[in-house]
Amino acid sequence: MSETMTKGAVLILLGPPGAGKGTQARMLEERFGLVQLSTGDLLRAAVAAGTEAGLAARSVMEAGGLVSDEIVLAILKDRLAEPDTVRGVILDGFPRTPGQAEALDALLAGQGLSISAAISMEVDDAAMVTRVSGRYTCASCGEGYHDSFKQPAQAGTCDKCGSGDFKRRADDNAETVGARLTAYHASTAPLIAYYEQRGVLRSVDGMGAIDTIAADLGAIVTDITG
Ligand code: AP5
Repeated sequence: MSETMTKGAVLILLGPPGAGKGTQARMLEERFGLVQLSTGDLLRAAVAAGTEAGLAARSVMEAGGLVSDEIVLAILKDRLAEPDTVRGVILDGFPRTPGQAEALDALLAGQGLSISAAISMEVDDAAMVTRVSGRYTCASCGEGYHDSFKQPAQAGTCDKCGSGDFKRRADDNAETVGARLTAYHASTAPLIAYYEQRGVLRSVDGMGAIDTIAADLGAIVTDITG
């Protein structure tokens, strides 16, 4: 049972590749009952399913660029229409451009909702290459791990579901991370000022230990929903 009612809450996690958005979104989901919506995960599912959107997105993702607003918005809109999202959502990796941010505002306004907080995860770019290059996930439940920073308690067995099957992302290499960081600074970092102007910006130090950051984020969620 989650600890707080978060119905209608809309949280955005902003940060470059490797900032810990996915790691923290999964922890917030568990603790507060919010639903994690990762456009990266939705796009990877579309690529794996071979849909038209997936075929168009694949090469862009492999090169570390940004998929078109049109494709991303269509995918996100479909996911937001699913009934579980009434519990409140954590947007992980969305919005990523001013166009996506404006479209999100319009979409939420149409449902009588607004952004509860956009949380910027402050990190050093140099450390992100190490984080992303060492990342792997459970192929069964999606739990995230790292070669140096977060190993399963029992080597080779997922802590969460017990699976022994793990996978690595095609775009998690030093070269592509460089392109992803460039895309972040060019297109996504300006959203920090966008949300500051709207009075919903919060920030956390993303360079600490995973549990410390989780506690900082939890305090923000409690503050805005409590
Ligand atoms: P996406 O899947 O969103 O990737 P990303 O933004 O590049 O973010 P990552 O998943 O790499 O990092 P994260 O912040 O979630 O870090 P994590 O928690 O895993 O997007 C992929 C691609 O899809 C994009 O490049 C683009 O092409 C496309 N796309 C997606 N959304 C789009 C959109 N809206 N518009 C256009 N295109 C879009 O942590 C990383 C590692 O570090 C893990 O191993 C973790 O265990 C470890 N770690 C986490 N926190 C810490 C810590 N505090 N200390 C030490 N290690 C840590």
